[in-house]
Amino acid sequence: MRDTGARPRIGIRNALLTLAMLALAAAPAVAQPDLGSSMRQKLDRAQGLFEAVVLARFPAARRYAGDLLRISEQSTWTPLATPSYLRYAGEFQEAARSLGQAAAARDIDEVATAYMTLTSTCVQCHRLLRESRQAEHDRAPGRLAPGVRSPRPPGSLVASGQ
Ligand code: HEC
Repeated sequence: MRDTGARPRIGIRNALLTLAMLALAAAPAVAQPDLGSSMRQKLDRAQGLFEAVVLARFPAARRYAGDLLRISEQSTWTPLATPSYLRYAGEFQEAARSLGQAAAARDIDEVATAYMTLTSTCVQCHRLLRESRQAEHDRAPGRLAPGVRSPRPPGSLVASGQ
C-alpha cells in the first residue's frame, strides 16, 4: 500500500528534477540578468515618464529622462554588436537627452516629440532583437527536422550584415 502510493511521487520528483536540469541547461541562452533588470527599470521609468509628459510635470519628466539615460549608459553588455543595435542604443540616449533638455526648458511640444522618439527606439530595438533571434533560429541546423539540411551555414549574428 505504502509502496504503490510512493511510486507516483518519485515519478513527479524525477520529472521536476528533469525540468530543473533543463532550465539550468537553457540558462546560458537567456539574456544576462543584469540586462533584464536594467530593462525592468527602463520600463518602470518609461511608464513614470509617460505620466509626467501627459501631465506636463517637467521636473519629474526631467528626472525620469535622466534615469533612463543613466541606465542605458551603465549597461555595458551588448547582446548584438551590429550597427543597427548600436544605432538604436545611440538614438535612445539621444532622445533621453533631448527630453531632459526640453523638460528643463518647459517646452511641452519638444518633450512630446522626444518622448515619441524614445518609445519608438524601445520598439525598434526589440523588433531587431526578435528578427535576429528568428534568423539565428532559422540558421541553427539542430532545429531542423531530421534529414533536412540547413540552407545556410551556421554563423554569428554579427556576420549576418544586419
Ligand atoms: C538598443 C536596444 C534596446 C532599447 C533601445 C531598449 N531595449 Fe529593452 N531590451 C533590450 C534587450 C537586448 C533586451 C533583452 C532581450 C532578451 O534577450 O530577451 C531587452 C528587454 C527588455 C524587457 C524585458 C526585460 C526582462 O524582464 O527580461 C523590457 C521590459 C524592456 N526591454 C523594456 C524597454 C523599454 C521600456 C525601453 C525603452 C524605454 C527599452 N526596453 C529600450 C534592448 C533594448
